[in-house]
Amino acid sequence: MADRKPFNVAVQMDPIERINIGGDSTFALLLEADKRGYGLSYYTPDQIALVDGEVFATVRPLTVRDVEGEHFTLGEAQRTALSAFDVILMRQDPPFDLAYITTTHLLERVHPRTLVVNDPAHVRNAPEKLFVTEFPDLMPPTLITRSLEEIKAFRAKHGDIVMKPLHGHGGAAVFALKVGDVNFGSLYDMFAATFREPWVVQKFLPAVKEGDKRIILVDGEFAGAVNRVPQADDLRSNMVRGGAARATDLTARERAICERLGPALRVRGLLFTGIDVIDGYLTEINVTSPTGIRAIKRLGGPDIAAMIWDRIVTKIAK
Ligand SMILES: Nc1ncnc2c1ncn2[C@@H]1O[C@H](COP(=O)(O)OP(=O)(O)O)[C@@H](O)[C@H]1O
Ligand SMILES: [Mg+2]
Repeated sequence: MADRKPFNVAVQMDPIERINIGGDSTFALLLEADKRGYGLSYYTPDQIALVDGEVFATVRPLTVRDVEGEHFTLGEAQRTALSAFDVILMRQDPPFDLAYITTTHLLERVHPRTLVVNDPAHVRNAPEKLFVTEFPDLMPPTLITRSLEEIKAFRAKHGDIVMKPLHGHGGAAVFALKVGDVNFGSLYDMFAATFREPWVVQKFLPAVKEGDKRIILVDGEFAGAVNRVPQADDLRSNMVRGGAARATDLTARERAICERLGPALRVRGLLFTGIDVIDGYLTEINVTSPTGIRAIKRLGGPDIAAMIWDRIVTKIAK
């Protein structure tokens, strides 16, 4: 790093040329870091390596601009020890597969000497639809299984259900099954053939048509929220599936959910998390690369990127 800045950040993310800058939370963090004069370096997860016990990546200096199509400039690539940075933002998107898990193991070698956000070991231990089951009283009735008999019994008890992959993301393969839906048998077979792990069966929450709220917590504290309302002909509220972002406040129950989760997130170094709440029921705790902060600011909410950097700087100063 030729022109070493007082504060140096490396971001591990998916290819920056492909991001949608208007919706990308990582990009919001990069813009804010750039504005603050932090040194920024960029690499994709495939660039990481362990060499004689030290973690390296081929990084490139990065500058960013909030202009579609001209949103980044990269400098010359250089093999660099990740311990040279003050902070590493681990921000690649799922799939949460073995490639993902491998990078968490490698980043664990530099953390916490170099602060990795979020803490890689805890990201690994907190798959979004499994971690949330530590708080069953906050969730809708939920079953994780691949047993036909168990799903039939759950359906008989709860009526309309949702089936979704345990490690799915972005609304992929999320199905609603009404009572008596004759597609259930085939859908069961399809899930059983497609997935090796058990999957999620959940009570269908009809109020989803009013939205699935994304609530952002920074170091375990409520920071901001956006409601995502699905299109009339789709179950899924995810913005990548056309869910419409709407300004929102928290209900008393949602505040209580944040207070319950806060300490569990803080103690795990899960500094930037996004939880999903439908009709007051917690369905997911997103810890890999939560999104929503650009939408929240655009709708007149707080500048969460600034809040996140403030927290990171305080943590490093300690
Ligand atoms: N139990 C449910 N009841 C009603 N709608 C649901 C339920 N679970 C998921 N959905 C709908 O499907 C979308 C995606 O499901 P989610 O569990 O958040 O998985 P993903 O990780 O793919 O975002 C939600 O935003 C919501 O619109
Ligand atoms: Mg979701």
